[in-house]
Amino acid sequence: MDFKLQPSALQMTYHIPVLLKETLELLNPTKEGFWVDATAGGGGYSRNILEKITPGGKLIAIDRDEEAIEQCEKTLADFEGYSIFINDNFANIRSILNSMNIPGIKGIIFDLGVSSHQIDSPDRGFSYSKEGPLDMRMGRETALSAKDIINKLTESELVEIFSRYGQEHFSKRIASAIVKHRPLRTTKELSDIIAGSVPSRSRTDSMSRVFQAIRIKVNDEMSSLEKALPDAIESLEKGGRIAVISYHSLEDKITKNVFKKEATDCLCGPEVPSCVCGHKKKVRILTKKPVAPSDEETRANPRARSAKLRVAERI
Ligand SMILES: C[S@@+](CC[C@H](N)C(=O)[O-])C[C@H]1O[C@@H](n2cnc3c(N)ncnc32)[C@H](O)[C@@H]1O
Repeated sequence: MDFKLQPSALQMTYHIPVLLKETLELLNPTKEGFWVDATAGGGGYSRNILEKITPGGKLIAIDRDEEAIEQCEKTLADFEGYSIFINDNFANIRSILNSMNIPGIKGIIFDLGVSSHQIDSPDRGFSYSKEGPLDMRMGRETALSAKDIINKLTESELVEIFSRYGQEHFSKRIASAIVKHRPLRTTKELSDIIAGSVPSRSRTDSMSRVFQAIRIKVNDEMSSLEKALPDAIESLEKGGRIAVISYHSLEDKITKNVFKKEATDCLCGPEVPSCVCGHKKKVRILTKKPVAPSDEETRANPRARSAKLRVAERI
């Protein structure tokens, strides 16, 4: 292997790419065709892919966060002519490729969730430990902010969000305290309410889980992924590969199920004697089990600890 794996210093402070070596080995970028980084973030993956595909190949870097795309355009300026930057939701992958008359792609990577830069920027409202507005929108196209969700939904809707997307054990207590103290304006107000609603040993975990749950709801993350994965597979050329790095069990479940479905010929149940659905498999799964970061990577970058990589190849 001769991967350089050298994001620039600016990219390293913006976001340290997770499972980079493992993903690049499986994605196997070559010097031809179109490649997509669906979650460009700080451009760490984009740079490493560009180093492998140029000259010859081109990269389309997508992020729904306008600030991330502007940043990538700057840090990847040395690859001008080989990279195209798109500020959009990856759920729109088909229309993005159609609008550029790109009939097929060689590979696509989804590195899900938020970047370290987004979490570390207090004004974005993603962090429970930094005071800022209750925002949490990854992109400006998003209709509702965290403030709307927290202040407008019913108590039972909040319980459902905290339980479903955060697997939070104290969802009911937290939702009830939020409703009593509304309206809330800042991340600090929300963190204090969560901290005051749960046993002291659970404070940090509960704050982390509830903030994550609200972020997932605000950005409708699971629906975007459910829409994007089949469309991305459909866009792959024969032999093209799709890599997905998830950080949440629901994201991994969606990925696993889409890959499994698209790797199966007939989807009729066992009660149907001969196939009536006509479904034909489109991919071969390259990761029978998800790839996890090494202990060494998790020690160096704790944000990698929940990462899981799955890769499939178009047939
Ligand atoms: C974990 S970071 C990616 C980091 C990147 N791989 C790197 O090496 O710097 C996730 C990025 O995906 C973006 N993102 C999340 N969901 C998205 C979606 N549905 N469409 C487009 N971008 C999305 C976020 O705004 C964030 O910048």
